[in-house]
Amino acid sequence: MAEPILKWAGGKRQLLDELYARFPADYGRYHEPFLGGGAVFFDLEPADATVNDANPRLVNFYEQVRDRPDALVERLRSLDDPEADPDPDLPYAEETARGRSVESYYYQQRARFNRRPYEGEFDPLEEAALLLYLNRTCYNGLYRENADGGFNVPVGRYANPDWVQRDRIRAASRVLSDASLRNGDFAYVLDAAEPGDLVYFDPPYEPMSATASFTEYSAEGFDRADQTRLLEVASDLDAAGVSVVVSNSGVMYEPYAEAGFHVDVEDATRAINSDGDNRDAVDEIVATNVPPSDRRESGQSELPEF
Ligand SMILES: C[S@@+](CC[C@H](N)C(=O)[O-])C[C@H]1O[C@@H](n2cnc3c(N)ncnc32)[C@H](O)[C@@H]1O
Repeated sequence: MAEPILKWAGGKRQLLDELYARFPADYGRYHEPFLGGGAVFFDLEPADATVNDANPRLVNFYEQVRDRPDALVERLRSLDDPEADPDPDLPYAEETARGRSVESYYYQQRARFNRRPYEGEFDPLEEAALLLYLNRTCYNGLYRENADGGFNVPVGRYANPDWVQRDRIRAASRVLSDASLRNGDFAYVLDAAEPGDLVYFDPPYEPMSATASFTEYSAEGFDRADQTRLLEVASDLDAAGVSVVVSNSGVMYEPYAEAGFHVDVEDATRAINSDGDNRDAVDEIVATNVPPSDRRESGQSELPEF
């Protein structure tokens, strides 16, 4: 059983049992088109899978984890404490991309991460190392990009931040080597999934209210039209004989129920705000086309009474 390496908004670790209870007892390949931190995928360790995310930096990270785990760990070990002084041998020691002076090692690395796609030679291993370093040392450990695609989270306060994560990287590398990894839109599953396969969709959640934005994973966002497109893809997969499980926020209850899915409400308290003390309780739904009798845990309700 592997574990997620990154802390990612919408991480599904608390919901694993609820999701697995709706998975079919048997299926062919496993597909996860919104991978994010990959809590389900890494826990499940499928023998044959496709995984995807629209965020290119996230997918580059997983490619490096899969192909060069030891080199990545070594690169992570070469990084310094976030509170240390900026490294005089590295570029961007003096100021951030916005021209503000850099006071600590953390802000120097953040500035390097944000400038990387635009100048110099692209080093995918360095980008992957910086993504994990910033994820483990930033405030509240939440990856967030501003409108320009910059990573803008301030430094966090940790007694002993551990950004190397050697064991998790090695375990994840093993699981990823059995999967095909993609960087694109979720709709690829219409071609990739065969009858009898299982698709688990964990999209950015449709906000419960206009003020609650759950869509800040990457600069692109995910709007109502994308939610509608996803429901259509889920319905097409259903018609093609593919098992589908979808998690989303409570506002999507009716659209999925009307499309003929079994929908259940989970009462989840999720730490999604940047302020760790202010946890929004939101209704979360799990929708599926898997009939109760075909589910993994269906045997339990059919136990004879003693
Ligand atoms: C809710 S998160 C997934 C969380 C993940 N299940 C976990 O446990 O960490 C949603 C992910 O969808 C990705 N995403 C956004 N729009 C997308 C699209 N159109 N196609 C595929 N992925 C997309 C985001 O980059 C984000 O990583």
